[in-house]
Amino acid sequence: MNRTTSALTKAKLAAAILLVALACGGYAVASARASRAVRAATAGVGASDAQALYSRHCASCHGEDGDAKTEKGELYGATDFTSKRWWDKERPTDAQLRRAITAGRRGGMPAFGKKLSADEIAALAKYVRGFKGK
Ligand code: HEC
Repeated sequence: MNRTTSALTKAKLAAAILLVALACGGYAVASARASRAVRAATAGVGASDAQALYSRHCASCHGEDGDAKTEKGELYGATDFTSKRWWDKERPTDAQLRRAITAGRRGGMPAFGKKLSADEIAALAKYVRGFKGK
C-alpha cells in the first residue's frame, strides 16, 4: 500500500466513524424525545418514578425512609416526614408541599423548580405525603 492509498483509507475510515457517531447521536436524541412523549402520554410521573426521583434528589437529607436520619438531614434540620406530630401541626396542603419543593425553604432546603418538571414535583409531593404515619 503506498502513502496516498493509506491516506485515502484513513479518510474513508474517519468518514465511516463520523457517520456511525452521527447515527448514534440521532438515535439518542430520537429515543429521548420518544420517552418524553411516552411519559407525557401516560399522564405524568408514575409511583416508581417518584421513588427514583426521591432517592436521587431528596433522600440525602430526608432519608430513604423519610425520617431525615441522615448526616445531612441532621446537619440542616430537614423535616421528618414520618412524624405524625409534624403533619398534625403543619397540615400542609399539596400546593404548599409543591411550593416548598419548587422554591425551597430557608435553612437548607434547595429549590427544585428549575431541575424538575411540574409533574415530577407534584409526584414528589404525593410521595412525601406517603411517609405520614410510617
Ligand atoms: C440539602 C438537604 C435537603 C434536600 C436535598 C432536600 N431537602 Fe427538603 N428540606 C430540607 C430542610 C432543611 C427542610 C426544613 C426547612 C424548614 O425548616 O423550613 C426541608 C423541608 C422540606 C419540606 C417541608 C416544607 C415545610 O412545609 O415545612 C418538604 C415538603 C421537602 N423538604 C421536600 C423535599 C423534596 C421532595 C426533596 C427532593 C426533591 C427535598 N426536600 C430535598 C432539606 C433538604
